[in-house]
Amino acid sequence: MLRSHTCGELRKEHLNNEVKLSGWVQRIRDKGGLIWIDLRDRYGITQLLLEEGESDQSLIETARSLGREFVIQAEGLVIERESKNPNMATGDIEIKLTALSVLNASKTPPFTIENNTDGGEELRMKYRYLDLRREPLRNNLKLRNRLSIETRKYLDSIDFFEIETPYLIKSTPEGARDFVVPSRMSEGQFYALPQSPQTFKQLLMVAGYDRYYQLVKCFRDEDLRADRQPEFTQIDCEMAFVEQDDVLNTFEGLVRYLFKTVKDIDIPSLPHMTYADAMKLYGSDKPDLRFGMSFVELNDVTKNKGFKIFDEAELVVGINAEGCATYSRKQLDKLTDFVRRPQIGAKGMVYVKCNEDGSFKSSVDKFYNQEDLAAWAEKMNAKAGDLLLVLSGDADAVRKQLNELRLEMGNQLELRNPDVFVPLWVVDFPLLEWDEDSERYHAMHHPFTSPKAEDIGLLDSKPGEVRANAYDLVINGVEIGGGSIRIHDRDLQKLMFKHLGFTDEEAQEQFGFLMNAFEFGAPPHGGIALGFDRLVALFGGQDSIRDFIAFPKNNAGRDVMIDSPSAIDHAQLDELRLKVVKPTEQIS
Ligand code: AMO
Repeated sequence: MLRSHTCGELRKEHLNNEVKLSGWVQRIRDKGGLIWIDLRDRYGITQLLLEEGESDQSLIETARSLGREFVIQAEGLVIERESKNPNMATGDIEIKLTALSVLNASKTPPFTIENNTDGGEELRMKYRYLDLRREPLRNNLKLRNRLSIETRKYLDSIDFFEIETPYLIKSTPEGARDFVVPSRMSEGQFYALPQSPQTFKQLLMVAGYDRYYQLVKCFRDEDLRADRQPEFTQIDCEMAFVEQDDVLNTFEGLVRYLFKTVKDIDIPSLPHMTYADAMKLYGSDKPDLRFGMSFVELNDVTKNKGFKIFDEAELVVGINAEGCATYSRKQLDKLTDFVRRPQIGAKGMVYVKCNEDGSFKSSVDKFYNQEDLAAWAEKMNAKAGDLLLVLSGDADAVRKQLNELRLEMGNQLELRNPDVFVPLWVVDFPLLEWDEDSERYHAMHHPFTSPKAEDIGLLDSKPGEVRANAYDLVINGVEIGGGSIRIHDRDLQKLMFKHLGFTDEEAQEQFGFLMNAFEFGAPPHGGIALGFDRLVALFGGQDSIRDFIAFPKNNAGRDVMIDSPSAIDHAQLDELRLKVVKPTEQIS
């Protein structure tokens, strides 16, 4: 071995030990008589010491020839430091060197490889292997590793079976675009990379494997955001002979186990909120319940007082920002600008300050007297010192806008503490959602989701009102997972495809394999998939999943380190019988 210890392990109890370390030079400080080298590896940093006059001159010369990120091997004696560093695990000791050799030189790195780096985003992505040497990224990958191990331990302990499913498959309808792979052997035909293993896990239930899971890569060609990557990982699960509550209880168990073992946090049992309530009270199907400020509908106390905007609105709805009556004109104008931003799209915002003396000051004093405003305040449970923020308009739109305002107020009031975790289940999602572009209904979760038995009768008359046995796991306003109880009956699955606008032939062509399987004894089944990258980022206290993935893509879906996607050569194209057509020219 090129080392006896790692750079993170030596402590006072190792004093006077002869040790051998290997690692990367993080930093050298040459103070004339004394030279210190910070030596780094995956486990930490250890300080090496050379003393002019005491240490061998050839060692001093080697040390002076080192640069940042050189790979070296060092041997020496563990001694107590004169000035200790309480912020470092190895801060009590240093190594007085007796041997030093260069294992490999390094070019000067393009950015400093320290906790706070001077490297910009693109540069760090290009040299990701250097960025990964930094402790914050190392800690993220360590957390990811821990969570995957604990997930496997838990699921294994309750008889889940990890089974791999193929990556070269046929399109699965999860709502995003597929990435496709041309087939050489079947000319003109393509595989699709799985958006999820949905159909395979259902087939495993038909096959009798009753509790399946897999930490699996999924691929979706969709617009990227902080919490979306084109390839990402799911904890994908399916169970047979279960009803909705069985699935929810099982995965509530996993969530609580992970919080306890990885973060030592006791999570109380998860509340269930219907989709309808989530939309009504928070304007979102993924409410952040770390703070209150739920919506209060004000139609009955705001209408018919001569204020045209409210009179004409389908919904007048507000939130109570407790203790914010002291907001200045400037702060209120900023909030108005915030809701007016094109991404949010509100026309304006009405405020009411509940003054300490019991009076009210509003932006609509012309239309509402003190008694009117007192009625609003009472409805909103407001007390002196509170600030009411009210929006109006088309019900669906105004709820979305108020959701944004609520989250913004949550940020401003620092109510969204990343160390606090409030998970919940959102249940009873609609089965179908109307798509304006294609002018037809789409499955809100996916087409294998079962409608609630009591709502099946509405499929023909009011398809938009049919509820599904579908659920999401939401933590701190993030959709961490989603799943459903599936249809396991061929006729119901056929009916579902019909409602989604598939002809019998199309349904048979795309999903015949699944519907045929349903004729060979498909058990009742259901499952869920948790977004693993999102879960790790949440545990790590961040919104973006990118730094919890070793080699992620940038916002344009590119890997700038390996420069992909990229052109392929003509021979490869010919073999696949593909032609690249550029907008104005055709390359043969
Ligand atoms: P769904 O499409 O809801 O369900 O996906 C499950 C979870 O995967 C995560 N996720 C993503 N994470 C990162 N980048 C992405 N592009 C991305 N897309 C989704 C989310 C999401 O909640 N087959 C069904 C599950 C089932 O019904 O059992 C499915 O894939 O956290």
